[in-house]
Amino acid sequence: MLHILFLFALLLSSSANAGDFCVANLKGEEGPAGFPCKPAAKVTAEDFAFSGLRMAGNTSNIIKAAVTPSFVAQFPGVNGLGLSLARLDLAPGGVIPMHTHPAASEIIFVLKGKITAGFISSANNVYFKTLKKGEVMVFPQGLLHFQINAGKYGSLAVVSFNSPDPGLQILDFALFGNNLPSELVEQTTFLDDAQVKKLKGVLGGTG
Ligand SMILES: *[C@@H]1O[C@H](CO)[C@@H](O)[C@H](O)[C@H]1NC(C)=O
Repeated sequence: MLHILFLFALLLSSSANAGDFCVANLKGEEGPAGFPCKPAAKVTAEDFAFSGLRMAGNTSNIIKAAVTPSFVAQFPGVNGLGLSLARLDLAPGGVIPMHTHPAASEIIFVLKGKITAGFISSANNVYFKTLKKGEVMVFPQGLLHFQINAGKYGSLAVVSFNSPDPGLQILDFALFGNNLPSELVEQTTFLDDAQVKKLKGVLGGTG
């Protein structure tokens, strides 16, 4: 009898955790299914709310743009839920350079200003459009895409992903922001040495 009661209690306590949510324990190791769960007894409403998108990101940088993420690393409550958001601020002239999110499709919703956005399919077809306030565009998972401020003033958008950890790789930084020897960059891009050295200088690469 005691054994049965014990089993029942065990089932109840574990299902409260495993069934409803799994707030990330960021100290644990992230696997394909996300982070391990914070003990359910320690979870509070704060774990399911995030105020980090209230403020505009700092656009005083080379791309004149800021992406403020609310991915699992910033917002542990989205762990295991298959979704996340980011805030996109673009100053005049701002651009999010060509990039991919290996783990997620993205949808953008323009709240302010005008944004020219597009992606390139794996057949190298280009799909781009200038989005006005209130308009939405989707970028399929893994494909190269970009966003450019198309207005005179600042633009603001919300982007949503079907992963709590969409990943981000920016093409320019992948090519010119590391120590891959310039000679190899030149051979793989067909750019000349001066162009590669110049881009490495701007984007923080060496070699
Ligand atoms: C924005 O970033 C620039 C460059 O890093 C810095 O000088 C400036 O203080 C930052 N502004 C704010 C409001 O944090």
